[in-house]
Amino acid sequence: MGSPKKPLRRSQEWFGREGKQGFYYRSWLKGLGLPNDLFDGRPVIGICNTWSELTPCNSSFRELAEHVKRGVYEAGGFPLEFPVMSLGETQIRPTAMLFRNLASMDVEESIRANPIDGVVLLMGCDKTTPSLLMGAASVNLPTVGVSGGPSLSGNWRGQPIGSGTGVIRMSEMVRAGELAQEEFVEAEACMQRSKGSCMTMGTASTMASMVEALGISLPENAAIPAVDSRRFRLAHLSGRRIVEMVHEDLRMSKILTRAAFENAIRTNAAIGGSTNAVIHLLALAGRIGVELTLDDWDRLGSHLPCLVNLKPSGDYLMEDFYYAGGLPAVLREIAPHLDLGAPTVNGRTLGENIAEAPCWNRDVIRSADAPFKADAGIAVLRGNLAPDGAVIKPSAASPHLLQHRGRAVVFEDIEDFKARIDDDALDIDETCVMVLKNCGPRGYPGMAEVGNMPLPPKLLRQGVTDIVRISDARMSGTAYGTVVLHVSPEAAAGGNLALVHDGDIIELDVPGRRLHLDLSDEELARRRAEWKAAPVPERGWAKLYVEHVQQAHLGADLDILVGGSGSDVARDSH
Ligand code: FES
Ligand code: MG
Repeated sequence: MGSPKKPLRRSQEWFGREGKQGFYYRSWLKGLGLPNDLFDGRPVIGICNTWSELTPCNSSFRELAEHVKRGVYEAGGFPLEFPVMSLGETQIRPTAMLFRNLASMDVEESIRANPIDGVVLLMGCDKTTPSLLMGAASVNLPTVGVSGGPSLSGNWRGQPIGSGTGVIRMSEMVRAGELAQEEFVEAEACMQRSKGSCMTMGTASTMASMVEALGISLPENAAIPAVDSRRFRLAHLSGRRIVEMVHEDLRMSKILTRAAFENAIRTNAAIGGSTNAVIHLLALAGRIGVELTLDDWDRLGSHLPCLVNLKPSGDYLMEDFYYAGGLPAVLREIAPHLDLGAPTVNGRTLGENIAEAPCWNRDVIRSADAPFKADAGIAVLRGNLAPDGAVIKPSAASPHLLQHRGRAVVFEDIEDFKARIDDDALDIDETCVMVLKNCGPRGYPGMAEVGNMPLPPKLLRQGVTDIVRISDARMSGTAYGTVVLHVSPEAAAGGNLALVHDGDIIELDVPGRRLHLDLSDEELARRRAEWKAAPVPERGWAKLYVEHVQQAHLGADLDILVGGSGSDVARDSH
């Protein structure tokens, strides 16, 4: 008889079966009211949904999923929506980043375990994008990303206010005595005015832009507001397209090539994107088997200009960005720096997608010859304080601090920082360098967004708006300042960051890419001998995470999750 024939379509390993197994696989789904012909071998499309009321940024996703389904049915596919762990940036303690890899495991195993031929990923709030991309990449089916889109522009007392950025600025005003607590509370309802993700160029909008630049979404994915009907049209068209992609066997690995990542890194510079993208793209590359390093970020992006005049670094918000032409207009401006031959999910190359992209507002999206900020991409620093690297986003920093020597004011952990920062007796001035330890992947654990430490009130009252800050933490994509992040190895892993004392001199030289602690190797060795590692958590996810998480310069994925396991499952459940 020869070897048994393998069914053409993955889902037919479930639905195409006879006997008891086939009955199991079909019968319970028929309980949803589904007719028999849906099981005939047409592409089954999983719609991976991160809807949750605890992730308000993704609260439009029930509706979004319905529009995807329309497209899937129209194109002759069979959509099945499923939930995965949803990480709401604003509610989850101690930090949503602690669970990015956990959610990615949920996504990976949910896709692999089920009768799915192609996947649509519904992503919005910060971590929901990398966790879904990473999980799906480890299965490597045909996959389309659909972002939920930003919320409407915040507006307070007739002025635009941006998600995150506005909170940070207004909370400093409260601490400086310039804004009353009641006014601050009033602003809460004025900032988030609709469903959708943060409408600054924070991490959510950055990652939605990365999705588009990687070619894993249809064009315009990055910027259409969540409540704009065109967002639902995009979902509808993505539903149609994923069915064709299954027919074409256009898998994720054919899109997420080295060229796609290089395009994304360059795009991040042009949009003034979040430092969080560094960690997420390194982790994603690890899942799909693309060699990508921290140094690629500096080499490919740091000399590129930022063209987009958006908060936190600029004036406008995501709605303005969409009306100005959105990401395609930016990509067209930086086209000479892109690999235009990179394939995208719509079947066309990136170059074909952006060739005619119009720009409607040159104040929002600047041209390449008159950019918003020069040399704006993420810079990678090294030195004895960060042998494996640290990052800074120069476009969000103060130019006068990019080369700076100063006295360290050290906080051992976030509790130490919070306990002392508001005390006017703290010995600190604007020439000092604030150092925060034990906020990295293992140390926090989960590498929280606490790297943009608020300034001491006594400096705020003097009108100081920025001082150099260094940590092994991340910072919100909506934040700004001369903030060195992702110091690797982190303090909790015994990096030299753990050995800094009050009064040590630190040298930051961004043009020279240097981060140096002015101590002899002998003194460092002496202090290291006295250093003790903190105990690991005793049980559960935190234990697994701390025992397996990689350092920031590798993307902070678990070592056991790097790579993929494909889509084959050998055994039945009964
Ligand atoms: Fe959810 Fe910013 S908090 S997108
Ligand atoms: Mg964030």
